[in-house]
Amino acid sequence: MRMVVLGLGYLGATHAACMAELGHDVLGVEIVPEKRAQLAAGEVPFYEPGLPELLKRHIDSGRLTVSGSYAEAADFADIFFIAVGTPQKKGEYSADLQYVDAAIEELVPLLTRDAIILGKSTVPVGTAQRLSERADELAKDVDVEIAWNPEFLREGFAVQDTLHPDRLVLGMFAGGASETACREIYGPILDEGTPLIVTDPPTAELVKTSANAFLATKISFINAIAEVCDAAGADVKSIADAIGFDARIGRKFLNAGLGFGGGCLPKDIRAFMARAGELGAAEALSFLREVDNVNMRRRTRMVELTREVCGGSLLGKRIAILGSAFKPESDDVRDSPALNVAGQIQLQGASVTVYDPKAMDNSRKLFPTLDYAITAFDACEKADVVLVLTEWREFLALDPIELGEQVRQRIVVDGRMCLDPARWSDAGWQYRV
Ligand code: UGA
Repeated sequence: MRMVVLGLGYLGATHAACMAELGHDVLGVEIVPEKRAQLAAGEVPFYEPGLPELLKRHIDSGRLTVSGSYAEAADFADIFFIAVGTPQKKGEYSADLQYVDAAIEELVPLLTRDAIILGKSTVPVGTAQRLSERADELAKDVDVEIAWNPEFLREGFAVQDTLHPDRLVLGMFAGGASETACREIYGPILDEGTPLIVTDPPTAELVKTSANAFLATKISFINAIAEVCDAAGADVKSIADAIGFDARIGRKFLNAGLGFGGGCLPKDIRAFMARAGELGAAEALSFLREVDNVNMRRRTRMVELTREVCGGSLLGKRIAILGSAFKPESDDVRDSPALNVAGQIQLQGASVTVYDPKAMDNSRKLFPTLDYAITAFDACEKADVVLVLTEWREFLALDPIELGEQVRQRIVVDGRMCLDPARWSDAGWQYRV
């Protein structure tokens, strides 16, 4: 089948390459010229394991092409995916839908044949309905069907999650043709036995926001328990292990530590609260404010713990920060808890040196005033405290004996509870979580 993917960021580039992998002819539209040039040359402008190989293969085979032209897109296919960003509005909780709106405003007037537009971006409930009404106004003698087909991929596992998802969800208006289209588009995935849940657009929109809200709640739940554990002298990791054996609870997303960040969970729970408020259902989601509060307290607590192990003041201390990406296997630093902590510690007078295996360039752009080292070892030189804030495998493999020679004081704070405490204690380190 022929199809267009509008927006080639983390979501769109992955989706476009994976659709080509399923055998489709795909045109990806990216309006930022530098990104477009990189993608057209078969290079991925961000770190996502497995994606560069897939993208290059399909660019080379010609099954995936990249363009900046909506006119070309309108001509290319009758199926369009919207994969543009929906960031948090500046100074507000709600989602900024300007890129989604712009995609419809630009594409629909150019359509000369009936078309199906499948939204993949995370949007507030009611968006498909609004866009559908707008598309009807903009369409010139053609039928434009809008449906929502949310994406559940995780950064770091984007290719795997797109090609082998847990489920597919389609929210369509009654009488539409998008179910037939989706069954064909996702044929090989459905053949694997993947469930396809067909529902209406508001439900599909809410499936996505509910999933992210639940994941965020799970993380904040265990972090709230971690606060109680701190007060009671108990071990939150053992609690997570023990309750996680209950199949109704499950162990996944119960890793306590520095909490969640990134381009999705934080802004999605806020946009969800804002939308519920607009709908008069604010009370139903008021607990998400507490989920957000617990999460943000983890960052403050990490700064306080670092100050405590420095003897009460960060002034003039050297702090090594290992990890700046919001999670391992990603170079994404959007709302990264690690970088947020690094910035706060620096503001309190410490000199902060950061190292991350993949996120150095993005970190430098966001926090140019921090110092950056080219290896974990270099970052730790003469450090008073080493903070491990993203659980990269590279850090789990660090040799605490060797690293002990490098630092001024052997104090390690394990912000992700990912190190082996005994290994570090045996090498003479004060290990803190
Ligand atoms: C998240 C969802 O997991 C995806 O299903 C969804 O498609 C995506 O958002 C999206 O809306 O696009 P992602 O942002 O890639 O995916 O990252 P996660 O793996 O969910 O991790 C989010 C944050 O939670 C990270 O900062 C991670 O370190 C933290 N986390 C995760 C914890 O603190 N503890 C855990 O147990 C798990």
